[in-house]
Amino acid sequence: MRVLLTGAAGHIGTVVAQRLADRHDFRGLDLRVAPQAWAGEYVVGDCADPDIASEAVAGMDAVVHLAGIATEASLPAILHSHVESTAALLDAMVEHGVDRMVYASSNHAVGMTPRTDLLPTSTRARPDTFYGVGKVAAEGLLSLYADRHGIASVAIRIGSFLERPTSRRNLATWLSYDDCAAMVHAALTAELEGYTPIYGISANSDRWWDLEPGRALGYHPSDDAADYASGVEHRPEDEAEGAYVGGPFATGAEDRRPFGSDAVDDD
Ligand SMILES: NC(=O)c1ccc[n+]([C@@H]2O[C@H](COP(=O)([O-])OP(=O)(O)OC[C@H]3O[C@@H](n4cnc5c(N)ncnc54)[C@H](O)[C@@H]3O)[C@@H](O)[C@H]2O)c1
Repeated sequence: MRVLLTGAAGHIGTVVAQRLADRHDFRGLDLRVAPQAWAGEYVVGDCADPDIASEAVAGMDAVVHLAGIATEASLPAILHSHVESTAALLDAMVEHGVDRMVYASSNHAVGMTPRTDLLPTSTRARPDTFYGVGKVAAEGLLSLYADRHGIASVAIRIGSFLERPTSRRNLATWLSYDDCAAMVHAALTAELEGYTPIYGISANSDRWWDLEPGRALGYHPSDDAADYASGVEHRPEDEAEGAYVGGPFATGAEDRRPFGSDAVDDD
């Protein structure tokens, strides 16, 4: 497929592009210049700009929308980054007859949900930050454009995209590089109608988010954070972080780890 990959210079974008290069033709879009290893077409610009979005979407079969501030920020910045960008891309898809979007949503869309035995994707929106509010609103746009314009979409509520799990919470929330690529491929190629939220995690033995909606799309994860459990230290904050879906974002802990680095992202 010809796929527009927004956020192509970011952590997830570079991993997805590398791992799926032999299956899809990617056109990258990012505020930042193309990574050194980038091989295909590439647009530098803001995907919330309707002209940039239209130029980038033209000629594509699908959009994988990863671009956005991957952490908490001011509400105006979040609305631009997650809501206006998604709307501009969806409008461009309507304009050019492109009918599938795979969207990087987040567990923080439901982050204030107390831990249950198994969290279904049908749980109500319960954001833990402005960042989570942005993801909820972007998912709302996916639902609207599915109903109004027939654009099929998968909103992947990503857990913790890391090379390896680094905290006790990650033993439930980890999404490995290989599984992430497999999930994006499944979301691009599955028989699909309407808007479908799924949880973006690996086959972690300690998970408490429902993997079945992803499996129904053909996502069959193979990695398990438990394989790394012996190397993950116990910390005093582990218990509080495990109480809510959004972990440290939901507790509002002052020592919440920043992310955006290679080591610790949206977690
Ligand atoms: N990494 C995780 O664990 C995780 C978890 C949940 C959700 N997510 C979501 O996945 C997506 C990708 O995350 P990441 O970890 O790769 O983040 P990242 O910060 O590494 O990459 C994001 C990329 O988006 C680009 N970008 C931001 N706003 C843009 C805009 N308006 N137009 C064009 N490009 C723009 C940035 O320049 C950057 O290269 C984000 O939407 C994030 O919220 C990530």
